[in-house]
Amino acid sequence: MGSVGNHRNTFVITTPLYYVNALPHIGSAYTTIAADAIARFHRLLGQPVLMITGTDEHGQKIQRTAEERGIAPQIHCDEIVDGFQSLWKSLNIAYDRFSRTTAPRHEAIVREFYDRVWASGDIYEGRQQGWYCVSCEEFKEERELLEGKRCPIHTNKTVEWRDEHNYFFKLSKYQEKLAALYAEHPDFIQPTTRRNEVLNFVEKGLQDFSISRLNLDWGFPVPNDPDQTLYVWFDALLGYMTALLDSDSKPTLENALEKWWPINVHLIGKDILRFHAVYWPAMLMSAGLPIPGRVFGHGFLTKDGQKMGKSLGNTLDPFALVDQYGADAVRYYFLKEIEFGRDGDFNKTRFINVLNADLANDLGNLLNRTLKMAGRYCGSRIPDVSLEAFADDHDLKLKGGRLLEQVQSAYEHLAFSEACEAIFGLIRASNKYLDETAPWTLFKQGKQTETEIALYAVLESVRLAGYLLSPIVPSLANSIYTQLGFEGDFNRADIGQLFPFEEHGVWGMLTPGQQLGEARPLFQRIELES
Ligand code: MSP
Repeated sequence: MGSVGNHRNTFVITTPLYYVNALPHIGSAYTTIAADAIARFHRLLGQPVLMITGTDEHGQKIQRTAEERGIAPQIHCDEIVDGFQSLWKSLNIAYDRFSRTTAPRHEAIVREFYDRVWASGDIYEGRQQGWYCVSCEEFKEERELLEGKRCPIHTNKTVEWRDEHNYFFKLSKYQEKLAALYAEHPDFIQPTTRRNEVLNFVEKGLQDFSISRLNLDWGFPVPNDPDQTLYVWFDALLGYMTALLDSDSKPTLENALEKWWPINVHLIGKDILRFHAVYWPAMLMSAGLPIPGRVFGHGFLTKDGQKMGKSLGNTLDPFALVDQYGADAVRYYFLKEIEFGRDGDFNKTRFINVLNADLANDLGNLLNRTLKMAGRYCGSRIPDVSLEAFADDHDLKLKGGRLLEQVQSAYEHLAFSEACEAIFGLIRASNKYLDETAPWTLFKQGKQTETEIALYAVLESVRLAGYLLSPIVPSLANSIYTQLGFEGDFNRADIGQLFPFEEHGVWGMLTPGQQLGEARPLFQRIELES
C-alpha cells in the first residue's frame, strides 16, 4: 500500500480548495476557521506548521459563471479570490499557503502526476454516459436523483445528460488496496459515521471514473491529448501538492513532496468525502506516493434548523457576521457550539446568548474584577505567592493541573467543543472560588497573604484558559495576556518558542511580581436586538 501519514515532526492541514463560482459562504468559513484553530494549536506545540487553503478555479461551473457575467474566467476568478482572501483576513485566519489551481506552476505538477499515473497503466479511453451535476462537478447515479432529475445536493439544479469519449482512471484496480488502507488505518477517515459511509460505498464495488471532458475550455489540456480537458477534480486535488512548493522552487513533484508530504489532515465537509477518502488515495497509490494521515469530514450548517440556500433566501453572510461581531465571536460560536463532525445550527439568539454568557460574563468579567482587585490590593502586580501556598487538593490548582492533557487530547481529536467545555469548567470554578473566598473581605480583615493567594489562583486560571483558548479566539487570548503583563502575540508563527506549551500550558507558571497591564473589558456584551 505504501506508507500512510506523516512521521516527521511537521504538521500540515488543508481546507478544501473552494470553488470560485461565488464569494465564500458560511460553510467555507466554518471549515477554514476549524483548520486555522488546529494549525494554531500545533504551532503552540512548537511544530513547524503549514496551513493550506486556496481555490479551485477550473471546470464547467466556473466557466459558465464567468460567461453569465460576460467576463473572462481568469478575471472572474481573480475577483472572487480577493473576496476569499479578505474574508480570511477579517476572520484572522493565519494560513501559510493559498493554492490557486490556475497558477502556472500548478499545471507543471498536474502534468507530472498525470504522467506517473499514465505510466502505471491506470488511464485508458472509454465512453462516459450519465447524469452530470455541474454544481457538484460530478456524475450521479440515476437512483440518487430527486424528482425532475434534480441533484440530491443542489436540489434546485437539474442534472445534464452526457455521452462522450473520455479518459478514465482505473479506480476499480484499487478496490482491495483501499479496503486494506481503511482496515489497517482505522483513523484514516473520521468521524466514525463518515468512515462507515465510505466503507459501504467501497464495498458495493468501485467503478472507474472519467478524468477528462470534451467541449470544455476552462482547464488544463490532457497531456497526451490536448483535445480533451482534465476533469476539475483530478486537477483540484493536486492543488494540495502544489501548495507545498516553496515560492522560489521549481515546480516538480520531487520539490513539492520533499519537505512536507504527506499531509497530516485534510479537513472537508461531508459532501466531498468520496473524492478525498476514495479517489484521492487511489490516485496517490497509482503514482506510488505515500497517503495522507487522515481525512476528517465535518457536518453541515443549518440556519434556524433549516437547510441554507440562496433559493430559500436564508443564507448567512460571513462577511456581515464578522463585520458586526468580530472574528473571535464568530470563531468561538461555531467551534464551541457545534460538536465537530455533526451537523450544527446557527441561531441568532443562541449566538448572542453563548457569547455573552461565556466570553463577556464568565471569562471577561472574571478577569476584569480580579485585575482591578490586584490593582488595589497587590500594587498592580501578580500576587506574591509561591506554589507551595496551594494545597494539592486546591480546587483550581487541581482542575488547572488536569486541563492541559484534556485540552490537548480534545484538539488532537478535533473536538473543539470539548476543549471549550474543559476550559470553561476551570473558568466557572474560578468564578465560584472568587465568590466563596471573597478577597475583598479578606483584604478588609487585613489578611494580605490569603488575599494574594486567592487572586493569584484566579489570575493564573484565566491566563491558562486564555492560552488554551488561543487557537480558537486568538485576539481574546492576546488581550488576556497583555492585561496580565506579557509581551507577545498569539498570531506569531513562532508562538511555540515564545510561549512554549510545556511551560504556558501548565497551571502555576505566572511569575509573582510581574507588572500587570491595564484592565480593559475583554468582550463587549452584545445587546439582543428587538
Ligand atoms: N472545489 C471543491 C473542493 C476541492 S478540494 C481539492 C468544493 N468546493 S466548495 O466550495 O463547494 O466546497 C466548500 C466546502 O464547504 C466543502 O467542504 C463543503 O462541505 C462545505 N460546505 C458547503 N456548504 C456547507 C454548509 N451548509 N455547512 C458546512 N459546510 C458546507 O467542493
